[in-house]
Amino acid sequence: MANEINTIGVLTSGGDAPGMNAAIRAVVRQAIAKGKKVKGIKRGYAGLLQEEIIDMDAYSVSEIIQRGGTILQTARCLEFCEPEYQKKGAEICRKHGIDGLVVIGGDGSFKGAQKLAGLGINTIGLPGTIDLDIACTEYTIGFDTAVNTAMEAIDKVRDTSTSHERCSIIEVMGRGAGYIALWCGIANGAEDVLLPEKYDYDEQKLINHIIEGKKKGKQHHIIINAEGIGHSTSMAKRIEAATGIETRATILGHMQRGGSPTCKDRVYATTMGALAVNLLLEGASNRVVGYRHGEFVDFDIDEALAMTKGIDEFQYDLCASMCTN
Ligand code: ADP
Ligand code: F6P
Repeated sequence: MANEINTIGVLTSGGDAPGMNAAIRAVVRQAIAKGKKVKGIKRGYAGLLQEEIIDMDAYSVSEIIQRGGTILQTARCLEFCEPEYQKKGAEICRKHGIDGLVVIGGDGSFKGAQKLAGLGINTIGLPGTIDLDIACTEYTIGFDTAVNTAMEAIDKVRDTSTSHERCSIIEVMGRGAGYIALWCGIANGAEDVLLPEKYDYDEQKLINHIIEGKKKGKQHHIIINAEGIGHSTSMAKRIEAATGIETRATILGHMQRGGSPTCKDRVYATTMGALAVNLLLEGASNRVVGYRHGEFVDFDIDEALAMTKGIDEFQYDLCASMCTN
């Protein structure tokens, strides 16, 4: 059994995601329920290095479960990739009595947690990213809200696209991963979906598909383009020139990262936050909580970071087979 945990720290790191507040709240209240102290670290690893550390009690997380963003703020901190700063981070944790730390973020943030674990600070990672791009888990905090936000926005673009009989390219977030694009492709009934994992950059194929659809009487052509492919505005110009069909680009951008979390994000983030505390109190370290095959599970961070995940082929094919042309 590892050393007894008396004070648990919590931080959010990397891109924010709706539901992070629910996770913070759960960490704080579960720890307090178990008789432990909690400290919030502001602005991710950057705030840790600056000792932006606050005491938290059950009331400091009141009124946040329904709020998007993260009350602890988040940051990207390149310095923390260097051993010198990781050592400093571990020393600061010790100075503030933090013997267990919950890190809410993506794979990059887990690498920081892994380094701190190696330096004697017990760490647990919670998957927080709208991108769903963490291999060890089928669920990440924020994806459900973000994908629903994107879906609703795309429905609206579709209305006007149909009225004007246009082609619309809608760019959704996901620099390295096409999960938001894929899910919206299915949920919005898009004619084409461009994913970084799949797109072969054959624009002529896309153009032929649009012309074919028009000949069959289609009133719009919705293309969902993942941020990782990007260039939606110039793509729209080229498509309009090649097809003669008015084409507009809409980039949804950061609105996908904000907003009140869905019920699923609130419930799963709360469950994961409480599980992180339980794991720390059992003496676990260097673990990440995930959701797989209908169960909340946890993995060694080293193993989790070594896992890979790809786009589900059946779901990808569905985008095409559900389209009438
Ligand atoms: P995410 O956690 O969403 O993947 P990033 O990749 O931007 O986001 O990582 C968030 C932060 O995690 C970085 O700004 C940095 O502070 C920390 N981090 C990333 N990679 C490492 C690493 N190799 N070692 C230590 N810390 C890292
Ligand atoms: O949080 C993930 C993500 O939203 C990616 O989809 C996107 O590429 C990236 O963050 C953008 O981050 P920022 O604009 O905050 O640097």
